[in-house]
Amino acid sequence: MIVPVVLSGGSGTRLWPLSRQALPKQLLPLTSGYSMLQETLLRLNGVESIESPIVVCGNDHRFLVAEQLLEIGSKPKAIVLEPVGRNTAPAIAVAASRLLQDNAEDFLMLVLPADHVIQNKAAFSAAIAVAAQAAESGRLVTFGIKPTLPETGYGYINGGAALASCPGSFELSRFVEKPNLETAKQYLASGDYYWNSGMFLFSPKQYMEELTKFAPEIASKASEALEQSYTDLDFVRLHEASFKECPSQSVDYAVMEHTCNAAVVPVDIGWSDVGSWTALADVLDKDDAGNVTVGDVYLNGVKNSMVRSEGRMVAALGVENLIIVETSDAVLVAHKDAAQDVKKIVDYLKEQG
Ligand code: GDD
Ligand code: MG
Repeated sequence: MIVPVVLSGGSGTRLWPLSRQALPKQLLPLTSGYSMLQETLLRLNGVESIESPIVVCGNDHRFLVAEQLLEIGSKPKAIVLEPVGRNTAPAIAVAASRLLQDNAEDFLMLVLPADHVIQNKAAFSAAIAVAAQAAESGRLVTFGIKPTLPETGYGYINGGAALASCPGSFELSRFVEKPNLETAKQYLASGDYYWNSGMFLFSPKQYMEELTKFAPEIASKASEALEQSYTDLDFVRLHEASFKECPSQSVDYAVMEHTCNAAVVPVDIGWSDVGSWTALADVLDKDDAGNVTVGDVYLNGVKNSMVRSEGRMVAALGVENLIIVETSDAVLVAHKDAAQDVKKIVDYLKEQG
């Protein structure tokens, strides 16, 4: 059996002004009428051997998360609440500890970011079945995406020999998280590397073993926070002091860069992590001039732009390659080339208090 472990703790700062601390990207309906979190769960419908999910999120988002799950009829195994964000290695560790506590050590955990788009559900479902074989043999399985750009915000995976007993899976020879631009360019040119999709499949026991080897303090503090947690309704409230003492690190740096026991399943599933307004525009339907419009928008002579209105009417004339996002208290106007800099606005706002 496979338990989805959905990581819903990010803040999605590059999608400001829509994505905010109180209502981050994963809880917003960005690609359909469903939020990204709901889409993540809905796409598992019909996947073989899938159990009900564990969602790990910040304490502040508990009601929104619970409500969004209820809306789509998803009954979670647990909604684990983090008193503070400690990045993905601890978030996965508390879910693993919870499964071990439930004596579900024969289950596999399918770690899923709550804010990704996957356009080809059938291929995704097939990839999970392939990965399950490697994960059952004790590997930490990653899903590799064919890279198209020297993107420095991703992990890079060098695949090795095919795993004889698991068709479709390969040894993972090397994992490099967020290389610099020069290195990313070399990896891309070599044709030997995949991007890490940020989704993983492994057994809770195997994950905790590797975590204990390479980041023992995360393993011990996260397990302690879970052991001393208390459960009310679906909410599992982690022990605050223990979780706060947990070092903050991503699974990529804490485990994947070090483990010798990983595998990669190359996938072609129409994946995007929707990391910016341009990435979001790329996965949405466009008009003949390449524009994406949402809400009350009038365009004339506009090309290759994304214009979104939450309330007030937005009109644009004769411009191209722009991102325009209107919300009740802020408006963004940016050139598409500056989409990555949107997080600078959030940094500025934080400084201003
Ligand atoms: N519950 C919880 N708690 N979730 C978290 C936390 C946390 O403290 N921090 C991040 N997340 C969630 C985010 O919401 C997101 O869904 C996922 O975990 C990954 O975190 P990101 O912060 O978005 O990671 P990244 O984009 O820098 O890098 C990861 O994803 C890339 C692909 O999108 C890495 O796995 C890279 O190797 C990978 O290429
Ligand atoms: Mg991300």
